[in-house]
Amino acid sequence: MCGIVGYTGFQNATEILMSGLKKLEYRGYDSAGIALLTDNINTIKSQGRVENLKNILDKKQNNDSKIGIAHTRWATHGNPSDYNSHPHSSHDCKICLVHNGIVENYLDLKNKELSDLSEDCIKSQTDTEILVHLIRKFYDVNREISEESFLDSIIMSLNKVKGSYALAIICDDFKDKIFVARKDNPLVIGSGNKENFLASDSTAILNYTREIYFLEENKIAIISPNEINTYDFNKKNVNKKIFHIDWNIEDVDKTGYDSFMLKEIFEQPKVIDNFLNINLNSDFLKNIGLEKKYLKKINHIYIIGCGTAYHAGLMILNLFRNIEGLSASCEFASEFRYENPVIDKNKLVIIISQSGETADSLAALRLAKKSKAKVLAVVNSVGSSISREADYVIYTNAGPEIAVASTKAFTAQVLALYVLYLNIKKILAKENDGKCKEFELIEKDLKNLSRNIRSALKQNNKIKKVAKKYSNSKNMFYIGRNLDYIIALEGSLKLKEIAYLFSQAYAAGELKHGPIALIDENILTIGIVTQDKIRGKTLSNLKECKARNGIIFLIIPEKFLDDEILEMADDIILIKDMHEILLPILANVVLQLFAYHVANILERDIDKPKNLAKSVTVE
Ligand code: G6P
Repeated sequence: MCGIVGYTGFQNATEILMSGLKKLEYRGYDSAGIALLTDNINTIKSQGRVENLKNILDKKQNNDSKIGIAHTRWATHGNPSDYNSHPHSSHDCKICLVHNGIVENYLDLKNKELSDLSEDCIKSQTDTEILVHLIRKFYDVNREISEESFLDSIIMSLNKVKGSYALAIICDDFKDKIFVARKDNPLVIGSGNKENFLASDSTAILNYTREIYFLEENKIAIISPNEINTYDFNKKNVNKKIFHIDWNIEDVDKTGYDSFMLKEIFEQPKVIDNFLNINLNSDFLKNIGLEKKYLKKINHIYIIGCGTAYHAGLMILNLFRNIEGLSASCEFASEFRYENPVIDKNKLVIIISQSGETADSLAALRLAKKSKAKVLAVVNSVGSSISREADYVIYTNAGPEIAVASTKAFTAQVLALYVLYLNIKKILAKENDGKCKEFELIEKDLKNLSRNIRSALKQNNKIKKVAKKYSNSKNMFYIGRNLDYIIALEGSLKLKEIAYLFSQAYAAGELKHGPIALIDENILTIGIVTQDKIRGKTLSNLKECKARNGIIFLIIPEKFLDDEILEMADDIILIKDMHEILLPILANVVLQLFAYHVANILERDIDKPKNLAKSVTVE
């Protein structure tokens, strides 16, 4: 949460910083600000979107500074306001910084370390501002104007901080340098030719460089146009590994779509083909580094994620439980640590995360590693913290997902988990001299998945009409059983996230234990019915709603359609027939479009829903 960006080089810094901020807005959009260094530091901030800041900058005289830092905020301490916006400056405006994270002990620091500072020097209610005053204080104490003395002041300050940070700091004593530090929040450094960049995530700077260095935990760097020097907190030089990021520039643009979300929904066939091209081969497990010897020792798999990633985990849960000798559970990352989980070297922990930076998921990973379990990360962002700290990584290769509501990343996560499951199943079957029939059947149909998603997408206009009909609904139920129930959870989450409509996902069989009391002619129930063995049961539950005058919107495969269904449902969207474990993915695409259109009709800000952020780096 919160996005930071920085530039030092030979180009106009404002343009680069503003372009970076725009790309980072998914991380927070309560306020934005920029600090440019020429002879002095000039800071401009504004409440609201990055666009507001741009309007202010457009009216100002052209500032041709070649170095600066900028920030887009997701408020934690202090309401969204001009004062609370970053960058924050020392009382004499000599030092200025932007911060992503939380200084948990800021009140303590203020009372103990800054008691000499007059109250009117502290301008905001934020935790961050305390940090800049602290650095300023130690820089005074050190009494020497040198890079080393400034670095010492930063280290002395950060040694006192409890909490998390990705920080970018400028000081008018160092006209071309940006000092950065990280602990538990992401920070990437982009390497250019006579210019260097920094950002919370690489999408913000991909327009300028593809050579990205991911600053490690508890490290500091000094960035100037020609150099990037990295240190630990003892000022010992540390090596850096540069990653080449080959995402397309178009991937971080809307390319004609109204929103990133719609673009990302329509990208799903491409994402699937891409993933299967890379991963549908006999070397899959070998490429990840998962060995048969190790797999045979595992007795339990923990599957962990947050939000949509957690739903992707649920999709694989029962399949893993199918594997002989193996038990599995799926947990919210935010709950995992408090459930006293039994973790040891015979447990495999799978962490699923689009961003690879979600604080709760990262904390779960660290707990697992501390307890000697191996961690397999299913991650989209190359080089992210989770991918770097895990023992094994499956990259979902979905390309950058910008919209806050996750769509293509979910599909890619489910696909990755299915391919993982099939490979583990196959290897264990081989071990018992058997063939994995299931593998052959599903593998064949996986090749039809992108085509069948395209067919679902072709029904966009029809889904839009259904959305129009129900966009005034105040309450909705999403129901299904088994895998369909998980898609109900995901569909309902999408609607809440972007349309701000209340809906509840229910296991269809549970409806009669309470919620059915709410059903009347005003309540829409969306039924997801793709699993053959339980289809009759879910349809009965929907009929029970119908009998109480409820409204029914049904998503089913073509093969299920019959007169009885036609009579019961007010609206039906048909998906193509395919292997049962793949059908829910198609149904989910329909629900993504449904949520999108409802939100669009209600004129919501689809890519930047209120109160949310894409990358949740606070616990
Ligand atoms: C946020 C996003 C969700 C996402 C969740 C987990 O809540 O708004 O879309 O599913 O975080 O994010 P991750 O990056 O770990 O998948």
